[in-house]
Amino acid sequence: LTSGNAGKERTLAMIKPDGVSGNHTEKIKEAILESGFGIAKEIVTSFNEDSASRFYAEHSLKKFFVSLIKYITRGQVLVMVLEKENAVADWRSLMGPTDAQEAKISHPNSIRAMCGLNIEQNCVHGSDSLQSARREIAFFFGDMSSGSVNFSILNYIS
Ligand code: PPS
Repeated sequence: LTSGNAGKERTLAMIKPDGVSGNHTEKIKEAILESGFGIAKEIVTSFNEDSASRFYAEHSLKKFFVSLIKYITRGQVLVMVLEKENAVADWRSLMGPTDAQEAKISHPNSIRAMCGLNIEQNCVHGSDSLQSARREIAFFFGDMSSGSVNFSILNYIS
């Protein structure tokens, strides 16, 4: 883990099950560090149906919701808190477009272009706003000001 970025913006990054099982973790972390992010926290864990449905609650009415939950619960995920100035927007830019097929054409150097398969199996997740980042970081790591870590909402593996 790297440190020394206190006071910088924070975002939540996640390597999804296809990224972890496809052995893309090291390459993705290298790209993260090369782009100037600090990795403040990281855990390997997995979603069950309940925790996944709460994490993706804003998409619960979308047609792809059931499929998304099935995909995200199929294996381990690596969750990180990234720190740098402009972390939310810069991590989304490094990930590339949601649809990995589109990423391969329009953003060939992005992580989704390198590791993703399609709009569902797109390898990585990133918070879409500062407000989402706060919610998502609290979802995994609890109230950071209290210094306590609460994994009880997750089906915690390692
Ligand atoms: S939306 O509709 O604009 O909110 O969608 P978007 O922000 O691009 O994507 C939200 C997350 O849903 C996933 N997604 C899909 N999964 C399966 N099938 C389809 N068609 C689909 N479209 C979007 C997408 O990968 C996003 O996942 P996260 O983890 O947030 O990156």
